[in-house]
Amino acid sequence: MSQDLPQSRSAASRYDTPSLVFHWITAVVVVIGFVLGPEGFGRLIKSGVDPATHSDIVWHETLGILVLVLTLTRLVWLAVRPAAPRFAMAPWMQWAARAIHAALWVLLLALPATALLALGSEDHPLTLLGGVRVDHMPLIAQSSVAGLADWGDVHQFLGDSIMWLAGVHAAAALFHHLVIKDGVLAAMLPWRRRA
Ligand code: HEM
Ligand code: HEM
Repeated sequence: MSQDLPQSRSAASRYDTPSLVFHWITAVVVVIGFVLGPEGFGRLIKSGVDPATHSDIVWHETLGILVLVLTLTRLVWLAVRPAAPRFAMAPWMQWAARAIHAALWVLLLALPATALLALGSEDHPLTLLGGVRVDHMPLIAQSSVAGLADWGDVHQFLGDSIMWLAGVHAAAALFHHLVIKDGVLAAMLPWRRRA
């Protein structure tokens, strides 16, 4: 059985409430955003269709921007929040958990960034719920980064990658809960475990 590494009594076994809320809202929004990933976006735009008339695109882009806002706010919270719970485990497991968390953080930022690069460099409009739209992004279009890659392809690859990584991450959390039987998953659940 694993032991909590005591820091403070309140921070020892569970994440603080804002961290829980950020984690689960982000996870749900990422999964719904992924499901609504606009297939054949380039073809659609080339054929003269306004993306604002496609609700999957509008929802996908709105949820994606929401992920960006949530992640930036969450990073501020990360800097000031109470100590996160820590559990005793093999060094390789600590290392793997840290590496996967770091990759998830990078992807949460890189997905909106590559999407904006894709839209800006191709001069496609950003179309959000409520009729919000940005038709041109001259700063991106004129930057040297715009021509470095097909940012739509990069974005799609990263979109698939975050789902694979989140799958491994969720499987690891379930492994902790069901096989190792420590408190790692419970630390991120909104309800308290019975003693
Ligand atoms: C967590 C955030 C996001 C995830 C997981 C995600 C995932 C994906 C995936 C998997 C695709 C490919 C869909 C397919 O071809 O079947 C895609 C395409 C696309 N996404 Fe996102 N996305 C995210 C954020 C965003 C944001 C913030 C925007 C807009 C600002 C956006 C705009 C687009 C566009 C325009 C395409 C089509 C790209 C192209 O084919 O050139 N996405 N996204
Ligand atoms: C797209 C989906 C997901 C993303 C992007 C994601 C991302 C993250 C991130 C960035 C952290 C670090 C949080 C922090 O320090 O505040 C984290 C922690 C955690 N996540 Fe997720 N997560 C996702 C889905 C899931 C799912 C489905 C589960 C459970 C089945 C889960 C279980 C956990 C647990 C238990 C922790 C704490 C791990 C520890 O303290 O070592 N996550 N997640």
